[in-house]
Amino acid sequence: IDVLILTGGQGAEHDVSLASAASVTAHLDPARYRQTAVTLGRDGRWYDDTGDAFLHQVEDVVRLMRRADVVFPLIHGRTGEDGTLAALLDLSGTPYVGSGVRAGAVAMDKHLTKLLAVDAGISVAPGVLVDSDREGARLPDGHGLRPPLFVKPNREGSSYGVTRVSAWHELAEAIDVAARFDRHVLVEEQIRGREVDIAVFTTHDGERRISPPLEILVGSAEFFDTAEKYDGGATFVVPAPLPVGAAARLREHADRLYRLLGCAGVARFDFFLAGEELVLNEVNTAPGLTAASQVPRMFAADGLPYSALLDALIDAAMP
Ligand code: DAL
Ligand code: MG
Repeated sequence: IDVLILTGGQGAEHDVSLASAASVTAHLDPARYRQTAVTLGRDGRWYDDTGDAFLHQVEDVVRLMRRADVVFPLIHGRTGEDGTLAALLDLSGTPYVGSGVRAGAVAMDKHLTKLLAVDAGISVAPGVLVDSDREGARLPDGHGLRPPLFVKPNREGSSYGVTRVSAWHELAEAIDVAARFDRHVLVEEQIRGREVDIAVFTTHDGERRISPPLEILVGSAEFFDTAEKYDGGATFVVPAPLPVGAAARLREHADRLYRLLGCAGVARFDFFLAGEELVLNEVNTAPGLTAASQVPRMFAADGLPYSALLDALIDAAMP
């Protein structure tokens, strides 16, 4: 099977994408797959394995896509996970692993995802979306929010540009920081609770497989920030020791959101468990896929080792 791996990207998560791709590449069985990898540079040009020796235009990449049996996109965040790449893949007509345009674009938008969740009866943190270009660092009148707050770029990943605000005087600076990543900034109340993730993928037979839950125990940082994510400060507990009722509701919520968003491939759903209540934090349609990332850890704990998970994802994408 000819697999084309696409990685890198023009967003803040460029290096995170390279790490996911390196791990996937190392865990695909060479007896089954012939791999080619192309990296979307921060400069918008496409590079092959040899680095900058060959510069590809997007039309060259479409030609490579058409030659492959399946494309495995591993671009987190902007220009990848957000539906941009899915659109190109749809037009190329090549089967690919993961979500299409709609699921990617909506899930990348944290605020829209929350609206959809609320509509489905799933709790979310109180929050407002600020258009920093027009409103600067001002919250709309009557917002009703109270610190501590989390200020986030609305469409970003890996906690880039996220600040915890404990007092009002810190808000303007936090909005400025987030606005460097996305003009639209999400200001939310902090949810005090346990941080739990769960993942869902669809098999080749169209059945949804739901992982056991994973709990994130943050190390020394104030929250599960970029450093904790990638410098090993946090600990994952899987399966998370949750009350039976909460575990069942977590599965239902994840399954529901997966279907409502119309996800394909694997998606990870990040929640807080605050007392008895599950509160959705966000959805990742291209979750981190290094061997140490949450998704491989969750399915491995359920008897599906990393390589077998990758096989299942590729299998599901193929006709
Ligand atoms: N955005 C990172 C890759 C994740 O959700 O795992
Ligand atoms: Mg995310």
